[in-house]
Amino acid sequence: MRERFGDRGAESFSTTLPAMIEEMKAAPEAMQPSKFWQDLNRRHAERMASTGIANFKRTLAKDYFTWMRVLPWDPQIRFLIGHLPPAASLRAALGVMSPLKHRHIPLFEGFALNFLTRLVWQYAGQECPEEIAALSEPSVGNPPAIRIGGRLVSQDLANSILEYKSVEPVATGTICELGGGYGRTAFVIASLRPTVRYIMVDIPPALGVAQEYLCQVFADRKHFRFRPFGNFETVRDEFEASALAFLLPHQLKLLPDSTVDLFVNISSLHEMRLDQIECYLSEIHRLVRPQGHFYLKAWQVSKIPFEGIVIRESDYPLERWDRVYRRLPKVQASFFETLLRKPKN
Ligand SMILES: C[S@@+](CC[C@H](N)C(=O)[O-])C[C@H]1O[C@@H](n2cnc3c(N)ncnc32)[C@H](O)[C@@H]1O
Repeated sequence: MRERFGDRGAESFSTTLPAMIEEMKAAPEAMQPSKFWQDLNRRHAERMASTGIANFKRTLAKDYFTWMRVLPWDPQIRFLIGHLPPAASLRAALGVMSPLKHRHIPLFEGFALNFLTRLVWQYAGQECPEEIAALSEPSVGNPPAIRIGGRLVSQDLANSILEYKSVEPVATGTICELGGGYGRTAFVIASLRPTVRYIMVDIPPALGVAQEYLCQVFADRKHFRFRPFGNFETVRDEFEASALAFLLPHQLKLLPDSTVDLFVNISSLHEMRLDQIECYLSEIHRLVRPQGHFYLKAWQVSKIPFEGIVIRESDYPLERWDRVYRRLPKVQASFFETLLRKPKN
């Protein structure tokens, strides 16, 4: 399956990753991966050693936002069945074994993946027909081969389109995403808004995967690839000319105030300790320009494995922002989503 990622992508990933891991040593404790993410990253390294990076949409993605371990009474499934006509749910049920087996995915996780993907795809098609018609899942990353009407469909594309609709009026200028995983949301926003500059910020290996993925799917755009730098002035021209930029978390500190029009964080801060959340929220506040926006989507309540802590929605210190909305997102009914505006002064 290497060809789907490309030999150059795989080689570039394996040379960039050690440099990212080395540079990450300079990050403060609050930006380092929590014990939970240290454990996941160790497992991701093992997965990549055995199955290669080429299959990341079947392997790493299930720790990002591709749901494969869902039971029939999961809140997402209940939401979707409640919001779709019975015929759509029946079609999804009939497709539970299609395909029967996905390489690299355990059998029963594959069935859950097939069912949920078929539900969420039909729901996104009902809610956002234009965007669903406009985009297709890139083959890079070897996505699970689930087809509806002969077309490759995915949870990641459907969920990212729903998220795009949540920020659509403010998705302009410079967008920065922290903890963006392999780049599913970046792919959708940068496809539907081709003039934005998109800055991806993550820890390795996610940043390395996102860099190879997005640089391949947007090969014709200008890229500011990851590199260590100590002073923004030394990279300013290239950074500002780029359409896609890739940074480690502590490199955010080198960017000037008010660099960002829209900051995005999805399913990421809720997996960090409170000191980490506070550190990132203060950096996000500094980076967003006055009247700019911050979109946050997270579990209403999350338990962080290994850290022994529970993070609740009320724990996020968001008082410095004006609230545009706070609501339950579509599909992930146990999450909340909020769009915040930074006051003028
Ligand atoms: C559950 S995944 C979600 C990925 C992506 N937002 C999505 O929805 O597909 C959490 C993300 O947070 C990132 N992350 C974990 N700890 C981090 C840290 N200390 N600083 C920055 N990002 C971190 C992970 O690498 C991963 O990309």
